[in-house]
Amino acid sequence: MYNFSFQNPTRLIFGEGQMARLASEIPKDKKVLVIYGGGSIRKNGVYDQVSSALSEHEWGEFGGIEPNPGFHTAMKAVEKIKAEGFDFLLAVGGGSVADATKFIAASACFDGDPLHILSKGARIRAALPLGVVLTLPATGSESNPNGVMTNYDTHEKLAFYGRRLFPQFAILDPTATYSLPPRQVANGIIDAYVHTVEQYLTFPVGADLQDRFAEGILRTLADNGPAALSDPENYRVRANVMWSATMALNGLIGSGVPHDWSTHFIGHELTALHNMDHGQTLAVILPAMMAEKREQKREKLLQYASEVWKINDGDEEGRIDQAIEATRAFFESLGVSTRLSSYGIKQQHIPALIEALEKHNMIALGEHQDVTPEISAKVLHRCL
Ligand code: NZQ
Ligand code: ZN
Repeated sequence: MYNFSFQNPTRLIFGEGQMARLASEIPKDKKVLVIYGGGSIRKNGVYDQVSSALSEHEWGEFGGIEPNPGFHTAMKAVEKIKAEGFDFLLAVGGGSVADATKFIAASACFDGDPLHILSKGARIRAALPLGVVLTLPATGSESNPNGVMTNYDTHEKLAFYGRRLFPQFAILDPTATYSLPPRQVANGIIDAYVHTVEQYLTFPVGADLQDRFAEGILRTLADNGPAALSDPENYRVRANVMWSATMALNGLIGSGVPHDWSTHFIGHELTALHNMDHGQTLAVILPAMMAEKREQKREKLLQYASEVWKINDGDEEGRIDQAIEATRAFFESLGVSTRLSSYGIKQQHIPALIEALEKHNMIALGEHQDVTPEISAKVLHRCL
């Protein structure tokens, strides 16, 4: 196991009826800006729950954060914060709202052009405090210090990070996810699954506990995924999916082990250039990446086959093939196509995707830094 230091300061408040805890989690002297997306929270009752929990706080609101949140939208929120003096941000929504809120929190305190946080990786030295009410289990953003924003002027989707961006708390009420459209349920399950895989399916370093955690999350998602779609108001199922998604990317399973993330970084270019959902990009790329890197990932692929999919018979090549097929079949069973052609993306689009990876310096990806632009192109060809 590698050396590591692990700290996650986000208080996780889990379960039905926990929304009322907002009142005590945010100090009464704070002026709260509630940040949300396109309006789903107004239809499913979450907005009303938040507003009644904040009845003794001074608060305002900023709606309209788009999926794959945009830089300019975030800047409008920053203007409002500066004009009206908000000093606590509450994200209410999915990963896009949580990410945008982190970016807004950093930008409101940034000395210089906030675009540099994205384009130049400028260091985030200060940020407004924030909390999250999560309505879509997927990204883990509710208890990690990461975010991804899109610059729609340049069609670039860029990640940022800052340890001051950990939410102070996250409220995880599985009933707030009942209203999700099937497409977003599926996207979320795939995102959480692939987060786990990116921190597990690399090479063995003797990290037994991290492996068991990761296998447990993968198994839980595989077991509960189909029922999350067929039985949307099943609390038990939604609770297991929600907790899995949070645990998949809050630092715990990734401590002391190698990380991959090549599937994610290639996926970001597909979203930026072709507007695919984040979960769709992962469903397409992961099986192809497993196939392309089967030699480098051999030991972990065999472990994954056995521990997650109970594939133990046959020779090594056959077991690896079956594990890749099981992964693809799982994503397809959630209604998400694993082929680029289903999203209208063809061979002629690949060069521009590779150029974008090169522009963003994504030229040595993966746990061995050997996913070069040439390998990424091969992976994309396998996805067609
Ligand atoms: O905007 P509203 O109206 O709220 O609708 C949203 C949106 O249209 C809807 N939705 C959310 N909760 C709902 C609901 N509809 C009905 N009922 C509910 N309870 O779902 C749509 C998608 O929401 P979005 O927040 O975009 O989805 P998700 O949570 O999958 O977030 C995706 C974003 O997170 C980034 C992705 O790149 C993408 O931009 N990621 C963030 C990460 C992180 N911070 O660590 C890691 C991930 O790998 C990922 O890159
Ligand atoms: Zn992801």
